[in-house]
Amino acid sequence: MIDKLKVSGHDNYDFPKTRAALNQLVADISQLSVNIHQTHWYMRGKEFFRLHPLMDDYMDQLAEQLDQIAERLIEIGGAPYSTTREFIDHTGLPEETGEFGKYTLEDYMERLVNQYEYLRDVFQQAMLVSDEEKDWPTQDMLNGMKELTDKNIWMLNAFLGKGPFGDK
Ligand SMILES: [Fe+2]
Repeated sequence: MIDKLKVSGHDNYDFPKTRAALNQLVADISQLSVNIHQTHWYMRGKEFFRLHPLMDDYMDQLAEQLDQIAERLIEIGGAPYSTTREFIDHTGLPEETGEFGKYTLEDYMERLVNQYEYLRDVFQQAMLVSDEEKDWPTQDMLNGMKELTDKNIWMLNAFLGKGPFGDK
């Protein structure tokens, strides 16, 4: 029999490292979405009609992930970053003013791969700490998100003529 006194209470549901990792993801996913929107607006070139709507698909994926992660964070007692200032103060991703003609379409996709690779590593870290703290519902939620990130990296690298890890 489960002893209710032993499994109930705040102490058994305190996942500080997981909360920090989820908030890191809130900041990074928010910033990645901003950067992808910039790419969507500033790209020019022969692949425009294919890549412009692809950026919409990526933003849709990220919006869904962001909401799930922020709400999971609240479920485990956290408070998600919710202002643009908090996102930029905590993200590990770059912020750069948009400029027409600065990057080719390939440059934009290279930059996007690099940013997705960073996000993949943040997902991995969040999965590791949620495992360490035994917050398995969070880890379960993150598994699929990391897989989708791996897939995006593979496809973007394939577009660039590279293998899934950026190898030739
Ligand atoms: Fe648009």
